[in-house]
Amino acid sequence: MAGDKTFTMIKPDAVVNHHSGAIIDLILREGFKIKALKLTQLSVEKAKEFYAVHNDKPFFDSLIAYMSSGPIISMILEKEDCVQVFRDFIGTTNPADAAEGTIRNLYGTSIENNAVHGSDSDENATIESDFHFSSDERY
Ligand code: CMP
Repeated sequence: MAGDKTFTMIKPDAVVNHHSGAIIDLILREGFKIKALKLTQLSVEKAKEFYAVHNDKPFFDSLIAYMSSGPIISMILEKEDCVQVFRDFIGTTNPADAAEGTIRNLYGTSIENNAVHGSDSDENATIESDFHFSSDERY
């Protein structure tokens, strides 16, 4: 059975360009409940750890520089079949291909600066949530 939680980050480009409020508003209007939320900045080390699965990719160094370059807003969200429903809601990795009205279509500017992250499986939603939030930081 699909899980009811996912993990997301509003990425530095979207935070710095003042899109956080609009993105959170869209998330809430879509019926996701926020179970945890914080504004933080990833160190280079933390960004490398979070994206370790991509460490052999040609874009890895650029991704780490970008993700540690400014503030992020990380959240745990709740909704039925949350991982897949949220991935559909944010759109494809590359904003150029993202369906109209999705978060990445609205606020992403490149395949790297794609405004938000969304977990790709229930297992990774748990791992990523635990990476960012302790048990007493969740509602
Ligand atoms: P995200 O869903 O957070 O997962 C990995 C991130 O790497 C992705 O969003 C993009 O920000 C980035 N990414 C994925 N593919 C590429 C690519 N081909 N070139 C540059 N960045 C990429």
